[in-house]
Order: sequence, then structure tokens, then C-alpha cells
Amino acid sequence: MQLSDSTPLCAEAVAHPNIALIKYWGKAGDLHTNEPAVASLSITLDTLQTRTRLTFDAALESDTLILNGQRDERRLPRISEALDRLRALGNTSLRCEVETENNFPTGAGLASSASGFAALVVAGNTALGLELSLREQSMLARAMSGSAARSLFGGFARIALTEALNPPDPTFGSAYAQPILEASHWPLEVCVAVVSDREKPVGSTEGMELSRHTSPYYAPWLEGNNRDIEDAERHVRARDFEALAELSEFSCLKMHAMAMASRPGLLYWHGTTVTAMHEIRAMRAEGIPVFFTIDAGPQVKAICAPGYGDQVAARLEGLPGVQSILRCGLGEGARIV
Ligand code: DP6
Repeated sequence: MQLSDSTPLCAEAVAHPNIALIKYWGKAGDLHTNEPAVASLSITLDTLQTRTRLTFDAALESDTLILNGQRDERRLPRISEALDRLRALGNTSLRCEVETENNFPTGAGLASSASGFAALVVAGNTALGLELSLREQSMLARAMSGSAARSLFGGFARIALTEALNPPDPTFGSAYAQPILEASHWPLEVCVAVVSDREKPVGSTEGMELSRHTSPYYAPWLEGNNRDIEDAERHVRARDFEALAELSEFSCLKMHAMAMASRPGLLYWHGTTVTAMHEIRAMRAEGIPVFFTIDAGPQVKAICAPGYGDQVAARLEGLPGVQSILRCGLGEGARIV
């Protein structure tokens, strides 16, 4: 295909954030390859979404990024780097206009990089006629942001290091995500307690590198990962809520303990984060099937068994410091719209 004629090449894609129940925190190699040091398992959400339109156009002199209707220079370098990966595959030097909208706060620990880069890859694949397989798209998204590899798929997905390509593919690297089960297998509900919509002080990439190089708990974090991922997949297949709740909170607390023990320590939680964690544990003690998970930000994600979202949302909404509750079910993978 000739990509240098004057007709702009466009495509638009939608992707949803995903939430890891077994967390990814740590890189195996350099930042360019962005191979994860641990396997992870996630659920893809439905109502939160990123919608991205790409226009590769010979009339453009440079890449531009328009995020939620505003030009964004600060995030542009990372987006241009991601576009370079697409351009290399499409054998083109066309510059690109990226128009992207999130219907939820960006960069606040709500996995906007996962949905953002997944949408970018899917739109880029179509706009440039790359015809990449889903696995290749997942690997490309992983190189841009590790968690984005999982947003290619709906329902339950995992990145299993035991299945990573060895030796690595020269273009795509090693690790990719795979779908495990569809959303309909176990339609969990998610209530996100938004504690702050401010951007997190230390981004995931920087935080992970800090933990890798300074946290005394980093080595044991890597060691326990294989077992966690195998157990989590078994609990999901068996729809064993109690077992998944215990294991998922363990993975979350272990990740934060290791990150807190970095130097300087990474403290993503606010007071309200801890209040919400206690409330979720209290609900579980009362017999309500719910557990928490928290990423690189202060928001608390309450994962509920099907049918319990209303009750959990009402309890979290009443807590001092909780700004709002975002309600989600499990959704589809990234797609062209
Ligand atoms: C805490 O995927 O944002 O949300 O690969 O450096 O872009 P980079 O990191 P990113 O990290 C996500 C970390 C997490 C846990 C998870 O989603 O697994």
C-alpha cells in the first residue's frame, strides 16, 4: 500500500480501561521494550471509555494531540513516540492529528493510559492498513503502556509471562495479553470511589523504576507472582468470589507495600482511600460480596459480585471525602467505531 499520497488516512476507535486484580508493577528490561517483570490479570470495564480519532495527513508538519477538546503539549512526546512505532510498521513518515476524549478523569489512577494506548493502536492499525493480529496489537500496546495490552480484550484478560515469546519477536517483543473469559461468564460490578480527580504525583512508569531499583521488597514481589496468577485464574474460572477477594486484596496491598518501601516512598493513598478500604472490609464482614483494589492513585475500586453494585455504591457514596461513584460492569475489548 502506498501511504504517501495526499488523501488523509483516518480511523476512530474506542477502548475501555481495565483494572488489574493481580497487579503489574515492574519492568523486566529497558523502557523502550517495556516488557513487564510480572504477569497480571484484569477485568475490562464498560461505561468508562476513551474514544480516539487518528488522521495521518501529508499536510501536517508535526503531530498534534487534542485531549478532551484542548491541545495538549505535555503528553505529546509520549504519543509521538507511540505514533513512531505505528509509522515504522506502516513504513510512512506521515504526521498525525490525534483527537482523543476520555469520559473520566485522565492520569488520576483510573487507567486512562490503558484505554488510551489501546484505542491508539486499534485506530492506527486500521488507518495505516497494517492488518496486525490481535496478539500483535496487544504487544504493540504493551510497548506503549503495559496495562494497555489487556484493554485490547473484554471480560477477563491476562498477561502470562510463561507464554511470552522466547526469543522475543524483533518487532513486537515478548509479552502480550490474552482473553481468558468473556464478561458474561461472571458479570462482576465495579464501583469506583473517586477521592480526587487531580493527576497523580508520580506516574506508573517512573514509580515502577523507582521500586525496581530501591525497594527492598521488590525481589519477594517478583517471586510470589506465578502462584498469584495461577490461583487468580482458577478462582475466576470457578467464580469463587471469596477466594478472589482475598487474593486480589493481597496483590493490591503487596504492590502498595513494596511501592511505599521505595526511596523516596510512593504513597498514592489519601485518608479517604483508607476510609473506603475499611468500609469495604466491613461490608464483606457483614456478608456483602465486595473487595477493594487500588492502582497508582487514590481512587478505590470496589469489585462486587453480580447484583450488589447498588448497595455498595450507596455505602461508599456516604463516606466523607468521596467525591463521586463511577458505576461500571464488565465490557468489550478495543474496537473500531
Ligand atoms: C498500578 O501500564 O500505566 O495500574 O507500562 O509504565 O505505562 P507503563 O505502566 P502502566 O501501569 C499500570 C500499573 C497499575 C497496575 C496494573 O494495571 O496492572
